[in-house]
Amino acid sequence: MSKIEKIAQEIENFTIQSEEELEQFRLHFLSKKSELQTLLGEIKNIAPEERKEYGILVNTLKKKASEKFEEGKVKMASLSHSPISSIDVTRTAKGVELGGLHPISIVMQEVCSIFESIGFSVVDGPEIDDDWHIFSALNFGEEHPARDMQDTFFIATKPDIALRTHTSSLQVRVMEKEKPPIRVICPGRVYRNEAITSRAHCMFHQVEGLYIAENVSFAEMKQTLFYFAQKMFGEQTKIRLRPSYFPFTEPSAEMDVSCNICNGKGCQLCKNSGWVEIMGCGMVDPNVLENCNIDSNKYKGYAFGLGIERMTQVKYKTNDIRLFFENDVRFIQQFQSLK
Ligand code: PHE
Repeated sequence: MSKIEKIAQEIENFTIQSEEELEQFRLHFLSKKSELQTLLGEIKNIAPEERKEYGILVNTLKKKASEKFEEGKVKMASLSHSPISSIDVTRTAKGVELGGLHPISIVMQEVCSIFESIGFSVVDGPEIDDDWHIFSALNFGEEHPARDMQDTFFIATKPDIALRTHTSSLQVRVMEKEKPPIRVICPGRVYRNEAITSRAHCMFHQVEGLYIAENVSFAEMKQTLFYFAQKMFGEQTKIRLRPSYFPFTEPSAEMDVSCNICNGKGCQLCKNSGWVEIMGCGMVDPNVLENCNIDSNKYKGYAFGLGIERMTQVKYKTNDIRLFFENDVRFIQQFQSLK
């Protein structure tokens, strides 16, 4: 078999099924170092009378190789185009579902940002604290029922360590560390050993506030809290203060806002009174200031503490506190669009 015939046979038998084989084909038959190329270069050494026929044969062979190579290229291109590049890239993308904030977080952030806008700064601290910060510094008497095992989750006794029952423990930490004027809010989780019902839970969230300076008045507190209530629930919101008792404030009050679920007509949340209690407040008891080494003759202050779950219920008109912690996506998803 002549060399030409041998190469013709090889071209014929070569199968091109992949990019690698295509490249092998090119190297074998079309590159400068290929046998075919060598045959072409030999034209000048062929006897003149045979040169024409030789030229035709070798060139036909080269044409065949080039054609097969081009065919292979087209085949590879079509393989690599399917199926990925047959996707319509101009089509609208499928939506990506992002997570969102839990309703409690939404309201907590909203409360914080209202107070931040009027000069309060946010502080954070431990959820497990000692008796001094949770009770003693705050003027709780030895016999106060909140210290009872029934109300507080103790982690250790003598010395007593417990899950904080309010974030007021943080306010003590701030008063011990900083000099007045002090203007802080303390958001966070708190724990009380209570039966879980539609209105109460053993774990809930609070934002407590504290303002200490010279000449702070009860009237100033009331106006600040009224401003807050209107920002939070709308301009139409009314507030009322009812006398109350807390060991750490004197005088003390409970603040109610007008119920925006029934607009005063009476419903389950406001227990048919038209008012919903959202926070406790009052002037800081001088004993508390002295416990934290603040001169109670020079400085006065007010404090308040509000429950986030209750506020979220009023704001979003939900009727059962337990829904917030069951984490049924169908429930918590609804709040994303309400922000
Ligand atoms: N610490 C109180 C509570 O948890 C709320 C409160 C804070 C009341 C500050 C008065 C002043 O119920």
